Amino acid sequence: MEAGGLRRLDAEDIPALGELAAAVTWNPALDAWRWMLGVGVAYGVDDGERLAGATLVFAYGEALAMLAMMMVRPERQRAGVGKVLLDRALASVHDQTVMALYATQAGERLYRPSGFVDAGSSVRFEGLPDVASAPRVTREARVEDLAAIVALDARAQGAPRALLIGSIAARARGVVVERGGEIAGFGFSVPEDGALRLGPIAAARDDDAAAIAADLARGAGVVRLDLEPGEEALRSWAAHAGLPVAVVSPRLVRGGAMPGERRLVRALAGRPFG
Ligand SMILES: CC(C)(COP(=O)(O)OP(=O)(O)OC[C@H]1O[C@@H](n2cnc3c(N)ncnc32)[C@H](O)[C@@H]1OP(=O)(O)O)[C@@H](O)C(=O)NCCC(=O)NCCS
Repeated sequence: MEAGGLRRLDAEDIPALGELAAAVTWNPALDAWRWMLGVGVAYGVDDGERLAGATLVFAYGEALAMLAMMMVRPERQRAGVGKVLLDRALASVHDQTVMALYATQAGERLYRPSGFVDAGSSVRFEGLPDVASAPRVTREARVEDLAAIVALDARAQGAPRALLIGSIAARARGVVVERGGEIAGFGFSVPEDGALRLGPIAAARDDDAAAIAADLARGAGVVRLDLEPGEEALRSWAAHAGLPVAVVSPRLVRGGAMPGERRLVRALAGRPFG
């Protein structure tokens, strides 16, 4: 336990995290908490009886970290709990680490005074896709593709995310585009709160990115797609597939520009993860 009821959370706190999330009207399944805690580090503030607030940090080596799931119980808000959690999260990463997050309006007011600045925004498409059948340039990902997928993801992100990608690959359907014996693009689809999440998707070529999204979406019910800020090819794919825009989330960043070859990044693994 650190000062002020601050402590690191673990798997035993999952029911409390679920309850706290519901109090701020978020409701990721408890399973989602389990695997988020397997990839990231969570901090919480106890108020004597229960969790007053919590947040998660996904650190990808020393280059990049995502701040996620920042939440404070409504009756405890505007009393500095969020700032305590933010400072703890910032202290948990290396001095040179770029920290990024996808913000709500309430969150923006917390982050900006701590040096977070705008870095584009992510468009979420969500709905029933209308995907025409087309010649397939993708194939199913195989276990032996994982190292190349992780390497392409690391190049795209400028940061190693092997733990995240491995954890997604274990639960998801994966497809790849292979060109000249190299993995030129990949994508995953994973069930999430009644929808099928399409992402992460990474590819150098626009047509490959669209083919990956189409393959993952074909035959699916409701799909959810959070685009990398600035991504246009999948934006027009989603519009053609008749998917409505559900929400636009600003990305805030602190400590420098986003690392990596961002043009390769097409769809997020989810707003918490980047
Ligand atoms: C965003 C959130 C975590 C902030 O937590 P909090 O404990 O209220 O934040 P703090 O009390 O530490 O506020 C720190 C500073 O942020 C600013 N701030 C925070 N909430 C604010 C609000 N609603 N209106 C104006 N300023 C606000 C203020 O500068 C505040 O300092 P002050 O109270 O001395 O003026 C909380 O509002 C919350 O859980 N919201 C719902 C979930 C959510 O949207 N999370 C953010 C995801 S990105």
